[in-house]
Parts: sequence; structure tokens; C-alpha cells
Amino acid sequence: MPQNSAAVLPAPYADLVVRDADYTAPAAGELVIRNRAVAVNPLDEIKQSTGDLMYKWLPHPAVLGEDVAGDVVEIGPGVTGFHVGDRVVAYAVGMEKGRNHTAEGGFQLYSVVEAQLTARIPDDLAFEDVVVLPLAISTAASALFQKDQLGLDHPTAGGHHPAPRQSVLVWGGSTSVGSNAIQLAVAAGYRVVTTASPHNHDRMRALGAEHVVDYRSPSAVSDLLTLLDDQTVAGIFAVGTGSAEPCLTIAIATGARRLCLASPSVSMSTLPRRRSLLALSRFGLQMASRVAPLMVRSRLRGIRTRFVWGSSLMTNEVGPMLWNDFLPKALADRSYVTAPRAEVVGTGLQSIQPALDAVREGASATKFVVLL
Ligand SMILES: NC(=O)c1ccc[n+]([C@@H]2O[C@H](COP(=O)([O-])OP(=O)(O)OC[C@H]3O[C@@H](n4cnc5c(N)ncnc54)[C@H](OP(=O)(O)O)[C@@H]3O)[C@@H](O)[C@H]2O)c1
Repeated sequence: MPQNSAAVLPAPYADLVVRDADYTAPAAGELVIRNRAVAVNPLDEIKQSTGDLMYKWLPHPAVLGEDVAGDVVEIGPGVTGFHVGDRVVAYAVGMEKGRNHTAEGGFQLYSVVEAQLTARIPDDLAFEDVVVLPLAISTAASALFQKDQLGLDHPTAGGHHPAPRQSVLVWGGSTSVGSNAIQLAVAAGYRVVTTASPHNHDRMRALGAEHVVDYRSPSAVSDLLTLLDDQTVAGIFAVGTGSAEPCLTIAIATGARRLCLASPSVSMSTLPRRRSLLALSRFGLQMASRVAPLMVRSRLRGIRTRFVWGSSLMTNEVGPMLWNDFLPKALADRSYVTAPRAEVVGTGLQSIQPALDAVREGASATKFVVLL
């Protein structure tokens, strides 16, 4: 049996430590991957920094990490379409409720993953480039395509679409989630308008966005309304702290009926990395004072506004559509690019904690990656 090791979170607020870990064989519908690259998400940093505020059900020591890429080493019963030795990228869901939390975490040498959340990748696509995708593309797809979210048409690989008839607004296009939402919406046949800092505008256009607006500009909302004038807006996806309110204003003005939110209304990075009842109470009050009026305003205007959960696609048709049908083909024919760009910050499990520290400092259209 292979010797496994993991970078574990031993206790709330602690730094990750590298330890020997059990190797778990795959159950039905699962694969085991020898991870060659992992990426870190704000979610991992938030879990480390905020104790049990999120993922209360996750016991310590915990194995965080959602984004993995590597080689298939073992295949569970009933899995078709994969072989030992395949190069793959996968969404590791160990942090989710009811999962085998340690075996399915990403920050280790061997992760158990769901075959329906795994995609084969072309031989010449580097693990460190493709590993930026899993949580971001899954969140974007859950938001855009689930019937209980924006319910848009599904994407097709190949990039040949008739002229778009409807528009989608992706606020926060230079986030990892937003960069994937732009590409998925374009692949589904929509015209995309987005926001980003000016230095990322060319990057957004290269992903397929037709227009880009600086979200920090005082005229951002009116600029977007001008661009969306006379357009049918099929849905709005709001990514980034503070994006919900302007997006609701735009939904009201354009007649969009559905708004999907990815980010909490108050940034969790305002919380200290320690237990503080005072900070937590202040955070709770700020959240309530932002979310309650937003929901009331949505309801009064007949707009369905919902928060998305990135792993929700694993319990509906969007998961296999994205991971088994769309993504392998779109990566193979190069109609889908790996975005945001990867920045390799180290090699070995001990490099994951510095990568989390880098996330805490912030990144622009970049995802931090560790090679294993
Ligand atoms: N609900 C879920 O399941 C789920 C899953 C994943 C992520 N999220 C949330 O989605 C958000 C993005 O996550 P990510 O991993 O994609 O982030 P990320 O890649 O780390 O995002 C970095 C980018 O955020 C942009 N940004 C910062 N503040 C912004 C704002 N107020 N409005 C719009 N863009 C802003 C910056 O753009 P510029 O450099 O162009 O200024 C920067 O490039 C976070 O709030 C995260 O918590 C939610």
C-alpha cells in the first residue's frame, strides 16, 4: 500500500503540519489520485482563520484542499471511463458534510475523489496549470446552470455558437470563480459583460467577455446599464464582497429575474485569526444588516436572489455534465483555457501553509499552486 502524508490542520486557527496519513482505497464511484499539484483557495484560508464559523462539521485534525491534479492510481467498483495512469484534475470534496473528511481532502499525496467530479486532461497540459480549476469552475457551473440558480443553457465544447441572443453579467470576472463563469457562459452561447480592475481588462476579453468595467469606478453601475441597454439579461452572477447590492440594482433596472451570489456580504478577512466573541458578534450584526434588506428588496421586486454553494453540483446533473462531458472535451480541443493563471509558490506539502499565507495577503487574477 502506498505511503501517504498530509498537510493537516491540527486544531482551529493553527498552522498546517505535515504528518503521515492513512491511504484509503476507493469505494464505488471513486478513484484515488496521486496528487502532483494542489491549489489553495480563499475558502481554505477562511477555514483556517475563522475556526468553526464555517464547516462546523469538520473534525480536527482536518485535511483541507479542494483543487487537485495528478495520476489515477486506483479505481473503485463501477467506475468507467478512467484507467490507472490517466492524468486527471479533480474536485476534492472532503470538507463537505457527510464525506470521508480526511480521505477526500486535497492537501495530501493521495486523495480519494468522486469519478463524477474528475476530468481527464491532455498529455501536454501541465498539472500546475489545470489545478486552478476545480472549486472555481464547480462554483461557476453551479451558479450558472443549476435549475435552482440561474438555470442557463448548458455549455458545449468547441466554441462554435450562433450569435448570442441573451446577456449574462458576471460581477468579479477576475476572481477565479468569475474567470470560469465568463468562459462557461460564453460556451453556453451568452454574451458576457463583466467587471475587473483595469489591469485585468485584456485578460477578461481574452476569456470571451465582450465588455469589462472597473468595479471600483463610481460609475460602474451606470456603465454596466449602458452596456446592457436593450439586452435581455438571462441572469446575473455576483462574485466579490459588496457585489450583491449593485447587482440587484442592475437586475431591477434590466428586468433580470435571477441573481446568484457567491460571496458573503461582509468579508470574512475582517475577522481576527483567533476566537473572539466580540468580533464574531460584530460580524454577525453586519451580515444581518446587509443581507436582510437585500433579500427584502429582491422579494419586493420579484427577483430570485440566492447564494450558491460550490459543491452543490455533486448532487445534480450539473456535476457530470461539467466534469465528465464538457471539461475533458473543452480542454482537449483548447476551447477552454485554465484561468486564473497559476503561480507555483513551492514544492512539497510543507509549502501549502506559505501558500495559504499568500492567499491571506491577496491575489489578482492568480491562483497559488504547490507541486507535490
Ligand atoms: N459560495 C461558494 O461556494 C464559493 C466558492 C468559491 C469562492 N467563493 C467566493 O467567491 C469569491 C471569489 O473567490 P475566488 O476564489 O474566485 O477569489 P480569488 O481568485 O482569490 O479573487 C481574487 C480577485 O478578486 C477580485 N476582487 C476583489 N474584491 C472584489 C470585489 N469587491 N468585487 C469584485 N472582484 C473583486 C480581484 O480582482 P482585481 O484584481 O481585478 O481587482 C482579484 O483578482 C470569494 O468571496 C469567495 O469567498 C464562494
